[in-house]
Amino acid sequence: MGPSSMYNVALILLFSFLLGMSSAKLSENFYEKSCPKALSIIKSGVRSAVQAEPRMGASLLRLHFHDCFVNGCDASVLLDDTANFTGEKSAAPNNGSIRGFDVIDNIKTQVEKSCPGVVSCANILTLTSRDSVVALGGPSWKVLLGRRDSTTASFSDANRDLPAPVFNLSQLISSFSNKGFSVREMVALSGAHTIGQARCVSFRDRIYNDTNINASFARSLQAKCPRSEGDNNLAPLDSSPIEFDSVYFKNLQSQKGLLHSDQEFFNGGSTDSIVNTYSLNPLTFASDFANAMVKMNTLSPLTGSNGEIRKNCRKIN
Ligand code: HEM
Ligand SMILES: *[C@@H]1O[C@H](CO)[C@@H](O)[C@H](O)[C@H]1NC(C)=O
Ligand SMILES: *[C@@H]1O[C@H](CO)[C@@H](O)[C@H](O)[C@H]1NC(C)=O
Ligand SMILES: *[C@@H]1O[C@H](CO)[C@@H](O)[C@H](O)[C@H]1NC(C)=O
Ligand SMILES: *[C@@H]1O[C@H](CO)[C@@H](O)[C@H](O)[C@H]1NC(C)=O
Ligand SMILES: *[C@@H]1O[C@H](CO)[C@@H](O)[C@H](O)[C@H]1NC(C)=O
Repeated sequence: MGPSSMYNVALILLFSFLLGMSSAKLSENFYEKSCPKALSIIKSGVRSAVQAEPRMGASLLRLHFHDCFVNGCDASVLLDDTANFTGEKSAAPNNGSIRGFDVIDNIKTQVEKSCPGVVSCANILTLTSRDSVVALGGPSWKVLLGRRDSTTASFSDANRDLPAPVFNLSQLISSFSNKGFSVREMVALSGAHTIGQARCVSFRDRIYNDTNINASFARSLQAKCPRSEGDNNLAPLDSSPIEFDSVYFKNLQSQKGLLHSDQEFFNGGSTDSIVNTYSLNPLTFASDFANAMVKMNTLSPLTGSNGEIRKNCRKIN
C-alpha cells in the first residue's frame, strides 16, 4: 500500500467516525418497539391543527427551521425564558413571530400518554415539519429519528445564525453556507415561503424603498402596512399561501417577492437561473426541497446519552 492510498484509508476512517457521531445514530424505525403509535399520533395532530388553521402548517415548518439552524435540531427553540435564562424565543428573528407552541404541546401530551418519556421534542418538531408540508400539498420525505433534546438554548446564537429579511444575496449565501448548504439548496429551502405569512415590520422597507418590486403589488401592500403603524399586520408570502406549490418562484419572476431577501434570489444575479428552473419544473423543486429538508433535519443532532428526553417541551427536566 503506497502512502497516498494509506492517506485515503485514514480519510475514510475519519469520515466514518464523524458520520458515526451524528446521523448514523439516527434511524427510521427508532420508535418501532418503544412507541409504535408515535408517528401516527403526530401525523393526526398536525392534520387537525392544519385543518383548524391552514397557516399552522407554515408556522410549524418555520419552527423546525429556526430550531435546526441554531446549534442543530435539538428543540432548543421550544424552551421558555425563565427568571435567569433568556433563550431563543425572544431573539430578534423569533420574538413575536414564531408560533405553533400550543400545537407541539398538545402533540407531546398525547405522545406522552401513549409512551411516557420516550419521544423527544426534537423528533416531534422534525416529524411535524414533514407532516405539515404534506398536509398543505407538498412533497414527503423519510425522517430519520433518534434526536434528543437540549438542556440549553442560545439567545445570541439565534441572533447570529438565523438569516434576516434585510439580507442581500451574499449575506444569504454565507448564512446558509455556514450551515453546510449549497446555493441551490438555499434557494430550494427558501421555497418554504410558498406557504405562510409575514408581518408588516418584516416587509415595510421593501414595499416603500425597494426598486425591484412590481409597483401595483407594492401599492396594495402599502394599504395593509402603513409607514409607521400596523407592525403586526399580515400579508401572504406568496399568492397561494396555503398551498405548497412553486408559485413562490413565479412571483419572484414578476418582482412580487414579499421580503427583500426573497427578491434577492431573482434580481439579475447568479440565482436567477435556479428560480427559473423551479418555476418551470415544480417536480424538480419538490424533490430538491425534500432532499434539502432531510439535510437540514440532520444538522448536529444530540444522540446517545447526550441531552435528554424532555417531559415538557418548554422546560428542561
Ligand atoms: C432565506 C432566508 C430566510 C429569511 C431571511 C427568512 C425570513 C422570514 C421572515 C422575516 C418571515 C416572516 C416572519 C414574521 O414577519 O413574523 C418568515 C416566515 C416564514 N419562513 Fe422564512 N426565512 C428564510 C428562510 C426560510 C426557510 C429555509 C424556511 C423553511 C425551510 C422558512 C420558512 C418560513 C415559513 C414557513 C414562514 C411563514 C410562517 C408563518 O406563517 O407562521 N424560511 N421567514
Ligand atoms: C435559576 O438558576 C438557579 C441556579 O442555576 C436554579 O436553581 C433556579 O431554579 C433557576 N431559577 C429559575 C426560575 O429558573
Ligand atoms: C420581545 O417582544 C416583546 C413584546 O413586543 C418585548 O416587550 C420584549 O422586550 C422583546 N424581547 C426582546 C429580548 O427583545
Ligand atoms: C451585502 O451586505 C453587506 C453587509 O451590509 C455588505 O458589506 C455587502 O457589500 C453587500 N453586498 C452586496 C453585493 O451588495
Ligand atoms: C426608507 O429609506 C429612507 C431613506 O433611507 C428611510 O428614511 C426610511 O426609514 C426607510 N424606510 C421606510 C419604511 O420608508
Ligand atoms: C405588476 O402587476 C400587475 C398586476 O398583476 C400587472 O398588471 C402589471 O403588468 C405588473 N407590472 C409590471 C411592470 O410588470
